[in-house]
Amino acid sequence: MMQLYDNPASPFCRKVQVVLRETGQFDEVETVFAIGHPLATEQMPVAQNPLGKIPCLTRDDGPAIYDSRVICRFLDARANTGLYPQARLWEILTLEATADGIMDAAVLMVYEGRSRPEGIRYAAWVDAQWDKVARALDAVGSRWMGHLAGPLNMGQIAVACALGYLDFRHGDRDWRKGRDGLAAWYETFSTRKTMAETTPKA
Ligand code: BEZ
Repeated sequence: MMQLYDNPASPFCRKVQVVLRETGQFDEVETVFAIGHPLATEQMPVAQNPLGKIPCLTRDDGPAIYDSRVICRFLDARANTGLYPQARLWEILTLEATADGIMDAAVLMVYEGRSRPEGIRYAAWVDAQWDKVARALDAVGSRWMGHLAGPLNMGQIAVACALGYLDFRHGDRDWRKGRDGLAAWYETFSTRKTMAETTPKA
């Protein structure tokens, strides 16, 4: 059976958990809890992924695969579910990359506060990560809304997981302010069963 190294707080892992459910493959993968960071790798899949990062998917018939973009594309191809429509492939992949970039910056902000000793934290660097998030959200809310409409695609799932993480860890920054269209889209998308089932809990 395939094994997914996973942490329910990770927005990258959430993408995979949503795709597993949306593509009808949830029962084909065993979820293995993983936790850690570069300074604490004991419970991370370093033997399977030399980067020691999650999500990481082991398979019976091939090497482990990572990162979330590779795993989601693999699962979609395996189930032939069309989450990457050929006619808009580069746009959907870029939208997914934009959402992943939001997650990268938002997770880095959390790690900075959690893992770095107080005396060597760099507030301007953390704020610059949020600037990155804000610019990306503005781009999604203006240029990308067309791709958020219509049949389910991987860009939508990734954006929703990124926004869910902002609510989870950066609620005080109020990402909805000035972004009514994106907020309305997210409210509707969040009602999907697969989103409700994967909402991170404190
Ligand atoms: C978090 O607790 O925010 C987190 C956990 C795992 C990966 C990324 C983020």
